[in-house]
Amino acid sequence: MSRKRIVILTGAGMSAESGISTFRDNDGLWKKHRFEDLATPHAWAMNPELVMEFYNARRKQLFEVKPNAGHFVLVKLEEKYDVQIITQNVDDLHERSGSSNVLHLHGELKKVRSTVDESLVYELDRWELKMGDKCEKGSQLRPHIVWFGEAVPMIVPAAEIAATADIFIVIGTSMVVYPAAGLIGYAPHDIPKYYIDPKASHVGGISNLKVIQKKAGEGVPELVEELL
Ligand code: OAD
Repeated sequence: MSRKRIVILTGAGMSAESGISTFRDNDGLWKKHRFEDLATPHAWAMNPELVMEFYNARRKQLFEVKPNAGHFVLVKLEEKYDVQIITQNVDDLHERSGSSNVLHLHGELKKVRSTVDESLVYELDRWELKMGDKCEKGSQLRPHIVWFGEAVPMIVPAAEIAATADIFIVIGTSMVVYPAAGLIGYAPHDIPKYYIDPKASHVGGISNLKVIQKKAGEGVPELVEELL
């Protein structure tokens, strides 16, 4: 018998207990900074040094934090299920905790890419990207992040994965950024769905959704125990 497939959509709240700021909570990154100055192609064109400095600081932090109990317990689901994680997070904490299948919708902090050929993506082994760091075609490297106003190339495989779910779990996301927030709509109508987030509320038009208003560190281990 083939294993049931669990598809898990995660957001910034998944990594909050590792010490990484979310975006829209009171102490969130987009409460402290204007995203227009840091996370758009226009911002990069106007002030690449500032954009680079912002992502360098976040990349530096990534070398200082660790996966939390929520990340680790998701790995246990692989004992019984085919687990596919779709994350909006640009950190690598799912990978570092041991999850096998992780799709990054919004890019990866530890990667950089060419500004003339987006297929040229490189792993950065240090935290600092500098002006003058170039790709093999001689153009400046930029953070490998999907900025506001840019296409989300991974949404197509993500929607295909969502459509094959037997169970769908959402963890730690405000569900306001599209197209990511729309992925739950691709999951089959009748399957069980769970939404773990202290501020979770019902998502319009989604059937069979159990809302769990808890932090990831508490809600995820409880749900994993139930599913195992
Ligand atoms: P948000 O900051 O919009 O939402 C974070 C969610 O995490 C909120 O719903 C919080 O209630 C919840 N949360 C906070 N602490 C939590 C905890 N300990 N456990 C569980 N949940 C917790 O972040 P995202 O929804 O991830 O894109 O934002 C989506 C995208 O917007 C991001 O990927 C980012 C941002 O702009 C890019 O940077 C490209």
